Amino acid sequence: MKLNIINGPNLNLLGKREPEIYGGKSFEDYFRELQFKYTAIELSYVQSNLEGELITHIQESDEVYDGIILNAAAYTHTSVGIGDAVAAIGIPVIEVHISNTFAREEFRHQSYISKYAKGVILGFGLQSYELAIQSFMK
Ligand code: DQA
Repeated sequence: MKLNIINGPNLNLLGKREPEIYGGKSFEDYFRELQFKYTAIELSYVQSNLEGELITHIQESDEVYDGIILNAAAYTHTSVGIGDAVAAIGIPVIEVHISNTFAREEFRHQSYISKYAKGVILGFGLQSYELAIQSFMK
C-alpha cells in the first residue's frame, strides 16, 4: 500500500504558524512518527505553496500510489484547478484539514475538493492525517 500525502500552502510553517489553531509540531516531525507507526504502508509526503505544483503532484500520483491524502490548505476554498485534478485521476483522494473549517470563517466552509474526494476528515488536529491513513487499512 503506497499513499502520498500532499500538503498545500503555508503547511511548511506548521509548528510555528498560529499554534493555537494548528498545534506546535512541525509536519516533518509528525511525518516521521507516522512512518514509524505505519511500517506496513509506504508513505510519501510533499508540500508546495504553488497551485500548479500541487496539481502536478496530484496528476503524477495517479497509478503510482494507491491513494492520496490531500490538505490543499487555503486552495481548498479557491481552486477549481485542484478540484478538477482530483476529479481527473483514478485513485481515491481523502481530503483532510487540521482545523474544523466549519467552525471558522464562512469562506472556509466552501471546498472545491470535497465533491470529488472519497471522504473528508477535519478538525482532529494532525490526527486527521492518521485517521485518513487508517481509512485505507482493511
Ligand atoms: C487548513 C484549513 C484552511 O482553511 C487553511 O487555509 C489552512 C489549513 C487546515 O488544515 O485546517 O491553511 O487546510
